[in-house]
Amino acid sequence: MSFDAFGDFRMDGHVAIVTGGAQNIGEAIARTFSGAGAKVMIADLNGEKAQTTAAAIQADTGNEVIGIGCNVTLQADIDACVVKAVETFGDVTTLVNNVGWGRAYDDPLAVPEEDMIESYKLNTLSAMKMTAACRPYMLKAKEAGKNVTITNSGSLVGSVPAFDFIAYSAAKAALNHLMLGLAHYFAKQVRINTVLIGTVITEGYASAGLDEKAQYALAHPDSLTGRAGKPQDIANAFLWLASPAGSWVSGQTIQVSGGGKRVKLKPE
Ligand SMILES: NC(=O)c1ccc[n+]([C@@H]2O[C@H](COP(=O)([O-])OP(=O)(O)OC[C@H]3O[C@@H](n4cnc5c(N)ncnc54)[C@H](O)[C@@H]3O)[C@@H](O)[C@H]2O)c1
Repeated sequence: MSFDAFGDFRMDGHVAIVTGGAQNIGEAIARTFSGAGAKVMIADLNGEKAQTTAAAIQADTGNEVIGIGCNVTLQADIDACVVKAVETFGDVTTLVNNVGWGRAYDDPLAVPEEDMIESYKLNTLSAMKMTAACRPYMLKAKEAGKNVTITNSGSLVGSVPAFDFIAYSAAKAALNHLMLGLAHYFAKQVRINTVLIGTVITEGYASAGLDEKAQYALAHPDSLTGRAGKPQDIANAFLWLASPAGSWVSGQTIQVSGGGKRVKLKPE
């Protein structure tokens, strides 16, 4: 028997940059790609944590992982991060635009203009800038016959709006459209997909203004799968999309959210 059902999910020969990869979802993506054989750079605002996480992943998988401090809203940091990846690993085949964050507001029409702009810079524009910085290396990698992809951490609320998280919701919706447009721009060269992530409870929920009760409600005990997500649930989807296993998938937004709320019309 020579058929290996998991062979297409291997990422040997790939070089991945994972933004915001020091913890939670980004960390799981970095560990999963590394476990599949990729060389990985974690680019995170928290440079120290990026390095600690990178070292822990490398110890787990035996494959090279580096961590670097990088603010994805700053052009100089973005450029330095991409150059460092190329200097270290010789290539960039795989970009994961994972950085993102939002917070709740009582009145969607009273969100300060600066907050709307900051949210757009963090959740949307950073992905465009990272893509632009990676473009020359990615096109070269494609010319060399490699599997070249960009996969983005979108959100369910970028598809179905959440009016209390309006700045985040609107910026994530813009991310979907931006990256879909870029998937068409890069046709036959770079595959681009966005994962619409459902609720993965992390410490970030408290900092976004949601208490324990709100977090429990968000975890959707009445969803089709009955539980909140785990970072690995999301990382598994990223592996499919970024590895050769996803080579016929591009320009898509793919929901990984526990199936959403169960719908039953007739009352109990
Ligand atoms: N957790 C969820 O339920 C959920 C749901 C939907 C979408 N998402 C999206 O998934 C992604 C990851 O979510 P998470 O919960 O793992 O986030 P998290 O807040 O736990 O981790 C984000 C990481 O990004 C880093 N970071 C923040 N700002 C940065 C910047 N300017 N430059 C570089 N790094 C920066 C942080 O240091 C942190 O390590 C985000 O885009 C988020 O919007 C998460």
